Amino acid sequence: MESTHIYAQNLAISGLTCYIKTVISSDEFRRALGHFATGVTVVSTCDGDGRPTGLTASAFTSVSLDPPLVLVCVDHKSQSYPALLERGRFAVNVLRADQEAVSRRFATTRLDKFDGVPFHMSPLALPLLDDALAQLECVTVSTHVEGDHTILVGRVECVHFGSGQPLVYYRGRYDRLSGASA
Ligand SMILES: Cc1cc2nc3c(=O)[nH]c(=O)nc-3n(C[C@H](O)[C@H](O)[C@H](O)COP(=O)(O)O)c2cc1C
Repeated sequence: MESTHIYAQNLAISGLTCYIKTVISSDEFRRALGHFATGVTVVSTCDGDGRPTGLTASAFTSVSLDPPLVLVCVDHKSQSYPALLERGRFAVNVLRADQEAVSRRFATTRLDKFDGVPFHMSPLALPLLDDALAQLECVTVSTHVEGDHTILVGRVECVHFGSGQPLVYYRGRYDRLSGASA
């Protein structure tokens, strides 16, 4: 089995642990993670000039029920990263099945991502995508640098719900729940 093979390769490095040096390539790592089906979100905030900014992110999960905490993992190379750190708050917009184009748009580094995408500013001054399946407004309570990403832990201050079905990402492709209509 392929996974056994990869594990055996790692064990073959004498004196080094997988943590210090791994033989798993980025492509292999991405491919393995791609087998974990996720929803798709746009994590948004405003920069120092009040301009909305954001990125497509699937590394989003709940952390705690009481208090209500979630996390998102953001690449240090992301153009949105400085604003997310400095602003100290962010919104998680959970995308609907018919929002694949929005996901693709926010997965680029263009500066005009919000142009033509319906959104509004919330009372917490966060840009919320109007057509999202759900929106969670968060205040950042801690940040943790891990490798080339930072984990932003946010306390959920406000939630909003839309209707429809979720956009799904699986093995590098967009998909939707079987039998579900958007
Ligand atoms: C389905 C999908 C999920 C993604 N998930 C993440 C993620 O969780 N964290 C991250 O930093 N980038 C993620 N990305 C990549 C960013 O969206 C991409 O690098 C984007 O260009 C960043 O935009 P920015 O540089 O303008 O901030 C994902 C991309 C796609 C298509």
